[in-house]
Amino acid sequence: MSDSFKWHPDERPPQIESHSDAKLKVLRSYLRAYFDKLNVIPNREEFKLDLVDGFAGGGLFSKGSGVIPGTPLIMLEETSEAKVRLNQNRRKPLRVDCKFYFVDKEAAHTDHLRKVLSDRDYNLDEKQIVIRTGLFENEVDEIIRTIKIRQPTAGRAIFLLDQTGYSQVGLALVSRIFSELRAAEVILTFAADALVNFLRNPSDVSEALMRLQLGDVKKRELILSQESDESKALAQRILRGHVRQITGAKFDTPFFIKPSKSRRALWFLHLSNHPTARDVMIQQHWNNYNTCLHFGIGGFGMLGFDGILDDTTMPLFRFNENDALELHNQLLGTLPTELFRLVSEQPISIDALHHQIANETAARFFDLDKVILELFREREFEILNSENKPRSRALKRLSRTDQIALPSTLLLPAFSRRSRKQ
Ligand SMILES: C[S@@+](CC[C@H](N)C(=O)[O-])C[C@H]1O[C@@H](n2cnc3c(N)ncnc32)[C@H](O)[C@@H]1O
Repeated sequence: MSDSFKWHPDERPPQIESHSDAKLKVLRSYLRAYFDKLNVIPNREEFKLDLVDGFAGGGLFSKGSGVIPGTPLIMLEETSEAKVRLNQNRRKPLRVDCKFYFVDKEAAHTDHLRKVLSDRDYNLDEKQIVIRTGLFENEVDEIIRTIKIRQPTAGRAIFLLDQTGYSQVGLALVSRIFSELRAAEVILTFAADALVNFLRNPSDVSEALMRLQLGDVKKRELILSQESDESKALAQRILRGHVRQITGAKFDTPFFIKPSKSRRALWFLHLSNHPTARDVMIQQHWNNYNTCLHFGIGGFGMLGFDGILDDTTMPLFRFNENDALELHNQLLGTLPTELFRLVSEQPISIDALHHQIANETAARFFDLDKVILELFREREFEILNSENKPRSRALKRLSRTDQIALPSTLLLPAFSRRSRKQ
């Protein structure tokens, strides 16, 4: 194991590497947004969530002469802060009831973690915080079982699976999480470059590949990738489609944490079954534009993995202002044809549209809605309310139940964006 992830209760925590630091920032901002997004209903009395850190590490990193929290502590801190923040302007108090599971295979790491948490006065009596020394794959079934007892219907849980390489987490295990817990989300890290390097050695047929369930074709495609940004885009596309297919997750945000001096790309893959969860995560990538990037363009098909081997010039997508503008223009160019296809037989609600295209673009729903409103003002489409009544062209904000429909008179080809070449 690399020294970056070695803890011992009698030693200073390992020095944080910059891409791990970036990962911690994205995790923290995601958890904060998750609590806020799910607790907008003013009359809610209780919010239950189970947080599982399957590869927890020792709880702290050294940074310069100080220390910073690792993932278990980030989960605990964000929960405590959410309890205060969410209750600030409420008449009815909200009870935030979270349970935490921290697993690591190394006893020295869990010992370090226990020490870190006791020093900060966390109660380790197992009622709220469970620490296990063992392999996550051996602990996961029991964890799922206890979550189901605590939350028989909601099954709301976030699993962080921060492996050091690419093969400790078998994809069958992730699919089990999704099939057992209705509202589970999984954040999976992948040392994507290491996987591609590994695949280059064709004689190395090991258990690791079996766990990823990669077929021969995908293996060959991955081996074809080189170290360039274009090939990373290809590797990302292949793996991404594959992971979604095997795990059964409906939505994902497949983004790389920007490699720094190490040049090792760290893939931070968020999997969920709800488009809102995907939208909240994508927002974090935009918020953390200094740390996240995506290999590829921002419009439709940017994340699809068909025809991957034809793409030879794949620009980097860095989630900055220029990219936001570029994305807006790309969507103005590509969305009309896609929408035309989707609404040709019957109108589609904004909610359903979000579901349909969430995986195809780095746009937040708010970006998509802006483009739809622009197309509506240009008369490419009609917007109807939930009672099928036409909305005024002066409409400023879409509601999720609004519907996009074909206009009663289609624009002549010369005037429609659909016939303009991008
Ligand atoms: C990348 S480190 C985790 C860092 C931590 N998430 C953080 O950022 O604060 C990965 C950890 O997973 C542990 N580990 C590796 N394989 C494991 C397995 N199969 N089950 C549980 N823990 C494992 C290692 O001992 C190591 O502490």
